[in-house]
Amino acid sequence: MSEDPDVVSRRIARESLDRDDPTGWFENLYAAAAGGSAVIPWDRGTAHQLLTEWVQESAPDGADKTALIVGAGTGWDAELIADRGYDTTAFDISPTAIETAVRNHPGSKVHYRVADLLAPPPDWPRAFDLVVEIYTVQALPIALQPEAVKHVTEFVAPGGTLLVIAAARPDDQPDDAVEGPPWPLTRATIQSFAGADLRLIQLSQSPSPADPTVLRWRAEYLRD
Ligand SMILES: C[S@@+](CC[C@H](N)C(=O)[O-])C[C@H]1O[C@@H](n2cnc3c(N)ncnc32)[C@H](O)[C@@H]1O
Repeated sequence: MSEDPDVVSRRIARESLDRDDPTGWFENLYAAAAGGSAVIPWDRGTAHQLLTEWVQESAPDGADKTALIVGAGTGWDAELIADRGYDTTAFDISPTAIETAVRNHPGSKVHYRVADLLAPPPDWPRAFDLVVEIYTVQALPIALQPEAVKHVTEFVAPGGTLLVIAAARPDDQPDDAVEGPPWPLTRATIQSFAGADLRLIQLSQSPSPADPTVLRWRAEYLRD
């Protein structure tokens, strides 16, 4: 009998993290999933519910605007944003994720790219009117999160919007009590996306429909 795909996914992550390679497991997991021996636990086959709600509430008009989707996985969130008219770039560290995204969305207008959030292309800072970050920062060990947060915020152009969706953890839960991945974000980390000219303008917490014990942040920031 073949191994449970969830068990395979966890094993792939653990092997990479134990080798002190905090991002290598994403490609290994996407490649195993493409070969049918693992599943991508976060691949919903549709845009994230909280992103869909934000789009319905805000009705953003992406005409003549650019968007960047961080850690885009197989592309469902990027397609939703491109459908609003944004000239959309979506990136992921995993080449197989990007290949899968391109295959999933034939005829897409999205520019899919392989790139590393921790070493992004030099022309991306302040280049995007909308930046969407869903579950990427929390997929990185806590020690790497400040660097990841810094790069996410740098992408936002003057007058632009940043939308962050992440699992939440209580502020009083010590870092070493979190057995990631993922490493859900504290309120302090959510607040750390804000800076002198990037204001947190909306913050909410809501339970996951799949597991109501899991709370998710939806945070919106605006660059002056
Ligand atoms: C938990 S998944 C979330 C995927 C997608 N945002 C979603 O919500 O379905 C995290 C994603 O971030 C990507 N990722 C992790 N580290 C990254 C990095 N340093 N640069 C770019 N992408 C990264 C992974 O390959 C994976 O697709």
